[in-house]
Amino acid sequence: MQHTKKHIQTADGSWTYHIEGLKETYHSRHGAVTESQFVYIEAGLSFWTQNNPFSNCRILELGYGTGLMAYLSFIAAEIKKIEINYTSLEAYPISPEELRLLEYQKYFDSKKKVPNFNDFSALAWEQVNKVSPFFTLTKKKIRFEDFKASSSFDIIYYDAFGAHAQPELWEPQWMQKCYDLLAPNGVWVSYCAKGSVRRGLATAGFKVARLAGPPGKREMLRGVKA
Ligand SMILES: C[S@@+](CC[C@H](N)C(=O)[O-])C[C@H]1O[C@@H](n2cnc3c(N)ncnc32)[C@H](O)[C@@H]1O
Repeated sequence: MQHTKKHIQTADGSWTYHIEGLKETYHSRHGAVTESQFVYIEAGLSFWTQNNPFSNCRILELGYGTGLMAYLSFIAAEIKKIEINYTSLEAYPISPEELRLLEYQKYFDSKKKVPNFNDFSALAWEQVNKVSPFFTLTKKKIRFEDFKASSSFDIIYYDAFGAHAQPELWEPQWMQKCYDLLAPNGVWVSYCAKGSVRRGLATAGFKVARLAGPPGKREMLRGVKA
């Protein structure tokens, strides 16, 4: 995926990348942080923790990208005081220079978290990084299609580029793979609201809910492994 990226500011002031060749952005233009928090932290992680209080949580993310969702999950783990083991898959990692241009460090300044966003971004790939007593991060440079897990997950953040840019990743076989990767009652969550994806999830065995979407998006999807 050798496309040129242009960094753009989104409606909530946070930055993201636009890929001209794919006509796609890494996050919503209506707010990169707002969307990530709404879809993945609130509708995904908070939903799961309400149903599984006091449990450790194993999260799998498709698409580490900028690391924004990983960092928001780290902050959530600190606030909620739950232990999160976070595994993120990325086929085409963003360079440290491209990450720096996003200036997420400034955006998160007020949170005063250790590590800060820049140090978090510099954590090594292909190893378990103990970020804090509540959070471990494992980044893997691999395609989701090729990933094999040694244990199951409680939540999947399915954050591939949209179906117009990457139709192959929204095919029913990958919804089935997600179902197989999740533990019972596991949660699949995405900004996507496409009918064919909803049907693929249902066919795989998920109980699927169409939820109100983040700003600029009418709906999004969440599936629970029945
Ligand atoms: C919408 S962006 C993810 C944004 C990210 N969650 C964040 O917080 O910045 C989609 C990401 O999926 C990655 N990707 C594309 N195809 C992939 C594949 N087959 N397996 C794993 N990652 C892939 C892209 O390189 C890109 O970083």
